[in-house]
Amino acid sequence: MRKLSTLSDIPHKVSSTSVIGVGHKHESAIRQVSGQARYVDDIPEAANIHHAAVGLSPVAAGTIISIELEDVLSSDGVIDIITVTDVPGHIDIAPVFDGDPILADKKILYHGQPIFAVLAKTIEQARKAVLKAKIDIAPGVPCLNIEQAKQEMNFVRPPHEMQQGNFEKSYAACPIQLKGNLTIGGQEHMYLEGQVSMAVPEEEDRMLVFTSSQHPSEVQKLVAEVLDIKLHKVVVDMRRMGGGFGGKETQAAQWACLSAILASRNKCAVKLRLPRMQDMMATGKRHPFENSYQVATDENGRIQATQIEINGNCGHSADLSDAIVDRAMFHADNGYYLGSSKIVGHRCRTNQVSHTAFRGFGGPQGMLVAEAMIDAIARKLGKDPLTVRKLNLYDEHDPLRCTTPYDMFIEHNVLPELIAELENSSQYWQRRKDISAFNANHSIIKKGLALTPVKFGISFTAKHLNQAGALLHIYTDGSIQINHGGTEMGQGLHTKIGQIVAHEFGLPLEHIEVTSTRTDKVPNTSPTAASSGTDLNGKAAQNACLIIKERLCEFYAGLVKGDADNVYFEEQNVYLEEHKITFTDLIQQAYIGRVSLSASGFYKTPKIHYNRETGKGRPFFYFAYGASCSEVTVDTLTGEYKVDRVDILHDAGRSLNPAIDVGQIEGGFIQGMGWLTTEDLKWDDSGRLISNNPATYKIPAIGDTPEIFNVDLYGRANEENSIYHSKAVGEPPLMLANSVWCAIKDAISSLSNYHLDPQLNTPATPEKVLDAIELIQQAGGQSN
Ligand code: MTE
Ligand code: MOS
Repeated sequence: MRKLSTLSDIPHKVSSTSVIGVGHKHESAIRQVSGQARYVDDIPEAANIHHAAVGLSPVAAGTIISIELEDVLSSDGVIDIITVTDVPGHIDIAPVFDGDPILADKKILYHGQPIFAVLAKTIEQARKAVLKAKIDIAPGVPCLNIEQAKQEMNFVRPPHEMQQGNFEKSYAACPIQLKGNLTIGGQEHMYLEGQVSMAVPEEEDRMLVFTSSQHPSEVQKLVAEVLDIKLHKVVVDMRRMGGGFGGKETQAAQWACLSAILASRNKCAVKLRLPRMQDMMATGKRHPFENSYQVATDENGRIQATQIEINGNCGHSADLSDAIVDRAMFHADNGYYLGSSKIVGHRCRTNQVSHTAFRGFGGPQGMLVAEAMIDAIARKLGKDPLTVRKLNLYDEHDPLRCTTPYDMFIEHNVLPELIAELENSSQYWQRRKDISAFNANHSIIKKGLALTPVKFGISFTAKHLNQAGALLHIYTDGSIQINHGGTEMGQGLHTKIGQIVAHEFGLPLEHIEVTSTRTDKVPNTSPTAASSGTDLNGKAAQNACLIIKERLCEFYAGLVKGDADNVYFEEQNVYLEEHKITFTDLIQQAYIGRVSLSASGFYKTPKIHYNRETGKGRPFFYFAYGASCSEVTVDTLTGEYKVDRVDILHDAGRSLNPAIDVGQIEGGFIQGMGWLTTEDLKWDDSGRLISNNPATYKIPAIGDTPEIFNVDLYGRANEENSIYHSKAVGEPPLMLANSVWCAIKDAISSLSNYHLDPQLNTPATPEKVLDAIELIQQAGGQSN
């Protein structure tokens, strides 16, 4: 293809009016705050719509002996009931590996597992009818924790291992040897819009599905499979989600499939919206983990050898757990060189709901081990943790300290510089002094400070998912519709795609309409996940623009007898040497001249590979970096604490939209803070989730926002050829919250004059903080 004149290719022509790099508000912001933005439950209903509800298992393990549904069927308004035997096609709706029956198939695998679905005239009637079922289950003995699953070698997938050098040999030779373990809690997604789907039967066996899903193509495939029809008979439409956070990557499909089966049987539109409590019980969460490490350093605290064992609680099935535990393993180094290393990951099967993607996708649970190790080393040596962190960063100039445990060479590492900048702007060392003085003068209230980095790998580790498509139409008035494979969940993907298209054609943002994600426009798409939405779909959209621009350049060059290579698009005009035409006029002429004004674009990420046999490769196109500095105040009598101040410097490359990126950073940080502090998932001894509503499960509220909250973008361009050299920003900021956890530990450690490293499992609720305080005091720290 001709090398086309995108503005970024012609440096002297870069427009001061370009929409790239500008803080445009979210395309739906006004409609969202004014209630006009349409979610699945807002779509006008067909005249023949009916409503579905599901009946859930009251036990975590067992065998179904009988299901009596007469009373359900005779309940007011009930139209139909289905159990697993009524599914016309596939029963298993698992995303990658088998094991997720659409409705319980004889065996009960977790508390809250859907056993049957009811269709009634109204949603209330459906939900009431469900309660009248009589289900006889021979109870089994559930496996409810990682320890038991590991003992029984009960894994949803085989273990995986990666190593570099000889751990045992290096470990034995070191003067400092430390061991530790860390229990890390899961997290409920708590998207504002819960799981919901609406299936509308069309002619004969065709099905149109509206769903709140991060993965419309997978919903299309699974709906087709459960209905036993071909994929081309199913269309999935997804305009926006009210949050997904990973919880709608695979686990939106079940509700879409159930709606579609009921719609197909009854020839009516069917909507299934889970009530919040059922949503919390019946859908997977962030995986709880139990990790352990052995780490050895030289006298200075420089790591020489590391062994880490990662154990994810996957729930009853594989779902995405293979890739999630892999990502935990890939991030157990965070930004640090681990020396000779061995990392093992186990995928433990328990009788819990199948745990799933959640912002960071296992990365956070791996990364926390790295920070735990650094804190342990710092306390052992009596050094400031920041000093030990800096000492252990990857060093791309030292050939011996620049490869990860999976043998990826670390280049373009901005962490040393980025940390130095934040260290300065947050006045880390001055505040360290102030805090030491404060703590010396206060026996009950203690302050803590920590500055932690983030290094997060960008790309799906399943290589084939790193592709995207887009479909672009220019209409005769010069307005443009762009459709792409990504889904909008609040993260601003559509805004960024709109900006990219507007930039390519030199148009204002209002000229571009990003339409709802539809499987009949762009097929075979990947989920919008792994933070790669803009990287993949942005490049695909740009590719579609370039294809049409090439046609327009040729056409215009023909019109004015110029060189097509010199055409450029700026400020709603198209220029070629001394010639100028408005974009709209050119489009009208091109239409009359029979130039196609529609194109599909495609993109696949270059350079990536990973060999799972050897545990080596380059799974990530690049890394996104960041660092945060948190200060907390802890009441050592009650364990209560407050986050007083947070400073963040985050690397979004050359930001496409600083306003949206800062929003992602703030939101991600707060969500991460909730995960590490207040969000406490509790299951009782029978395996029932008891933190199953917003009253018993505490997400951060506005009052938990740090009073001082400084967020800055690092601003250095991505060295890799990502879209306009920006960087993905969706997930990495969540892990900036690690500094809150480390700061709480720092405050507790002050009780031992910083000689002891407190054991603080997460979430670090006030109860756990108090436990950690008491342990430190018993171990000989100064008591109050
Ligand atoms: N931001 C909002 N507002 N809502 C969300 O659901 N999901 C996060 C992140 N930011 C999410 C969000 C997750 S888990 C991912 S993977 C990315 O957005 C996905 O979008 P992107 O790839 O376009 O960044
Ligand atoms: Mo995000 S957890 O990759 O959907």
